[in-house]
Amino acid sequence: MPHAIVVGTGIAGLTCALHAASRGVDVTLVTKDAADHGATRLAQGGIAGVVFPEDRIKDHVRDTLIAGAGLCDEAAVRAVVTEGPHRIDELARRGVAFDRDGSGRLRRGLEAAHSFPRILHAGGDATGLAIETALLRATRQTGIRIVEHALLMDLLTRDGAVTGVRLFIGGRPAELRADAVVLATGGAGQLYSRTTNPAVATADGIGAALRAGAEARDLEFVQFHPTVLLGGRRLPASGAGDAFLVSEAVRGEGATLIDEDGRRFVFDAHPDGELAPRDVVARAIAARMNAQRGRPVRLDATSVRGLTERFPSIDAAVRERGLDWTREPIPVTPAAHYLMGGVRTDLRGRTTLPGLYAVGETACTGVHGANRLASNSLLEAAVFGARAAADIADGGGAHPVAVSAPRPAVTESARGGGDPATSAEPFSRPALQRVMWRHVGLTRDGDGLARAARAISVWRRSASPAGTPAEHEDANLLLVAEAVVTAASARRRSVGAHFRSDDPAPPELPSSSPAREALVPSGA
Ligand code: SIN
Repeated sequence: MPHAIVVGTGIAGLTCALHAASRGVDVTLVTKDAADHGATRLAQGGIAGVVFPEDRIKDHVRDTLIAGAGLCDEAAVRAVVTEGPHRIDELARRGVAFDRDGSGRLRRGLEAAHSFPRILHAGGDATGLAIETALLRATRQTGIRIVEHALLMDLLTRDGAVTGVRLFIGGRPAELRADAVVLATGGAGQLYSRTTNPAVATADGIGAALRAGAEARDLEFVQFHPTVLLGGRRLPASGAGDAFLVSEAVRGEGATLIDEDGRRFVFDAHPDGELAPRDVVARAIAARMNAQRGRPVRLDATSVRGLTERFPSIDAAVRERGLDWTREPIPVTPAAHYLMGGVRTDLRGRTTLPGLYAVGETACTGVHGANRLASNSLLEAAVFGARAAADIADGGGAHPVAVSAPRPAVTESARGGGDPATSAEPFSRPALQRVMWRHVGLTRDGDGLARAARAISVWRRSASPAGTPAEHEDANLLLVAEAVVTAASARRRSVGAHFRSDDPAPPELPSSSPAREALVPSGA
C-alpha cells in the first residue's frame, strides 16, 4: 500500500487525503497549527460551479479565461469547470448544507466578472467554515492520521526525487518517509502588511519546494481583494486583526463603492463598475484612496435587503467595530488575498520533482492565469485535490512530471546589486511586509522592484540560520518574496493583477459581465 504525506488541512489537502484513502493509499496529514486553522475556514463568498440548468460550462470557462487575462491554461480551466459540479455534489454529500430559499432551491450568488449567478454559499457568508468542518469530520471518521502542530521544515530528497518530509514537532525535528508528498499549505498572504489571509499563510510549501529544486510559476500574480473593513469607531473586542474581508458577494447583492464625495468612482475605470474584475476594482480603490490622501473609500450596502441574515459573519464584524452597515457606508480598502502563482503542476497535480505534488493555493495549475475569477479557488482546490489523489493511487508519483518552462531572465535590478544602504532597516517581518506592500503590491514599477530586490537580498544574506519555527517561516517568506520580485521584474508589461505603472501601454479592459440588472440576484 503506498504511503502519502499530505501537508495542509484546508479543502485541497483534506480532499486529496479523503480521495487517496478511499483508493487504498495510507495517508498521513500534517499541519503546523490546529487542523482547522487555515485559510479555507475564512472563505466567505462561496464556491462557483455550473449547477443550475440555465448555466453553461462554456460560460464558466469563458468567464475564467477572461478574468485570467489570456494567461490561463485552458485545459486546466476545462478540467476544473467540468469536474467542479461533481466535487460540489460530493461536498453536499459530506454534509455541507448549501443555502436554499424558502422553496428549497439552492440560492444563487453573484460575484465580480461572472456572467451568471453561479456561486453557492453556506451559512450566508460562512461557506469555508462549513466546508472545513464537513471535510475534517469525514477525515476523522475515516481514521486518517492527522499530526497537528507539525511545521514543514524541508522536503527529503534522493537522486532528485522527493522521499519524505522533515518536520518540527513540539520543538523537536522529525523525519517521515513516503512514496508521495503533497503540498497543500496555502498561500503567502503574510508577505504583505495588509492581508485577508490567516497568520499561518507564510508560504511554507512553496518555500520547501523551491529549496528542493521544484519549479514555481506565475509568482508575479498576487490578487488583492478590493474590500476589507478597516478601522471603525472601536477595535474588535475579539482581538481579531484589524482587517476583515467584506465578501465580493455583498457587491453582487447590489452594494456600491463611493468616494468621499459620495460618487461611484469605479465606473471611471471599467464599464462593469463594482462588478468589474477584482484587480480593476482594487486598483480603482487604491487610486481613489491616493487622491483622498490615504483615507478609505466606502462600501454602501444600505440598499441591500436582508443584509444581516445573508451576511451574518460580516455583520458581526461590522458591529464589533461600532458600525451599522444597514444605515451607513463602511470604510474599506484593498488587501493581499490570493496567490495565483505557485509550485508548477500538471493536470494531475504533479510538480517538476518526482514524488512531489502540489494542490490548492500552493500550486499553480494555470487555472487562474493572471487574475483569479471570484470563488474559483475552493473549486480548483477540490478538483485538483481529487486529481492528485487519483494519480498517487495509480502509482504515478514516481514518474516525471510537470513540463518545465524556461526560467524567467533575472534582471540586474532583481538580482539585488548589493546596495545595503537601501535597506538600512534591519530585518523584521513587518519591515518585509511594508516593502512588499509598497513596491510589489497593487502597482509596481522598475525602480520599486529594484529597491525591493535589494532590501530582500540584504536581508537574506544577513539572516542567521533558522532555529525557531518563526525564523523558519521568515526564511520561507524571504525566499518566496525574492521569487515574487524576480518574476515581477521579468514581466515588464502589465497584465491582470500584475500592473506596472511604468508600462507605456496598459491593457485594454474588456467587459465580461452582462449588465447587473439582467442578472438574477441571490435567492430570487
Ligand atoms: C469573497 O468572498 O469576496 C472572496 C471570494 C474569493 O476570494 O473567491
